[in-house]
Amino acid sequence: MKRQPRSSPRSAKPLRTVSIIGTGSYVPEKVLTNADLSRMVDTSDDWITTRTGIKERRIAAKDETTSEMAAKAALRAIEQAKISAKEINLILVATATPDMLFPATACFVQKKIGATNAACLDISAACAGFLFGLEIAQQFITSHTHDTVLVIGAEKLTSITNWTDRNTCVLFGDGAGAAVLRHRGSAHGVISTHIGTDGHYTDILFMPGGGSRCPITRENVDLNLNTIHMIGKEVYKQAVTAMIRASKKALEQAGLSIHDIACVIPHQANLRIIEAIADRIGIPLEKFYVNLDRYGNTSAAAVAIALDEANRSGRIKPGDYILMVVFGAGLTWAGTVLEW
Ligand code: UT7
Repeated sequence: MKRQPRSSPRSAKPLRTVSIIGTGSYVPEKVLTNADLSRMVDTSDDWITTRTGIKERRIAAKDETTSEMAAKAALRAIEQAKISAKEINLILVATATPDMLFPATACFVQKKIGATNAACLDISAACAGFLFGLEIAQQFITSHTHDTVLVIGAEKLTSITNWTDRNTCVLFGDGAGAAVLRHRGSAHGVISTHIGTDGHYTDILFMPGGGSRCPITRENVDLNLNTIHMIGKEVYKQAVTAMIRASKKALEQAGLSIHDIACVIPHQANLRIIEAIADRIGIPLEKFYVNLDRYGNTSAAAVAIALDEANRSGRIKPGDYILMVVFGAGLTWAGTVLEW
């Protein structure tokens, strides 16, 4: 008998729209102010505020892991989504500071939240990771591969911070944000996503140590290779270009103009970067959701925490068009347009 080719049960089904049905976030209790930092390195509240907009950041406890913060954010998102953790089919954790190189931080989160039916993996796209995660989740749901996906951005950046380097240590903080995605049977949801990368810029923001190229040795730790290295000015320049490009592409794909957007949720790295983007894409700064003054740059968690705050505070309302736009080491960038 001639063998019939296998047909995918998914192939005949129409593509589905994907909605965020719950968000959550968590930041550690401990606050480190600019004044505190000025007692640690040669800096000042004035320098940090005028160059970055950051006033304070949160610092995880010594024994508080990335997966613990991620799990706390996830449980809040699950509660808001009114689902059981067992309904989750896939957990994606975007992070540059995993609990360990392996297993994936998502595996630790699965155990902590009891999502026993989920497959788990991490996404390494630095600060752009949460939006890369939303895009991956969307593809799985749209294609009927999975129904419910949990996407988390979580970081313990203070574990890779060089506390003697004033160029970087004033910028970063810890925290986590999460979103539950599902097909909701309405038009609301993710309208378009543009993701991109330029690997020519791997040398402007990176952590050289801890991987196969430069394993952990006493000498490498003495050289601070286990901490963040950054050419700030170059990152700044590339960030503005990348975020403008990502915004334009996501809006174009969505068939919307910047004037249709009720709220922009950008990566929270530097207020000057956000101001430059507002100016260049022609949208008032008031339309941007900004919380970097309170948390600093929390990398993959930043836009996820901001989304949760904007959601819970009523800053974004059903029917609003929202633009989320990010950039990160790699360089990576992404823009997502949602109808809330
Ligand atoms: O998620 C992506 C993560 N990274 C970023 O987003 C970083 C993007 N870049 C930036 O945000 C900015 O480039 C910084 C905030 C990092 C730096 O601002 P800048 O206006 O580009 O300053 P700069 O690097 O040109 O430094 C100006 C001066 C230098 O002194 P000299 O050489 O002019 O005497 C620095 O040594 O400021 C000095 N400086 C500081 N002074 C006080 C650098 N860091 C500090 C500090 N406190 N913390």
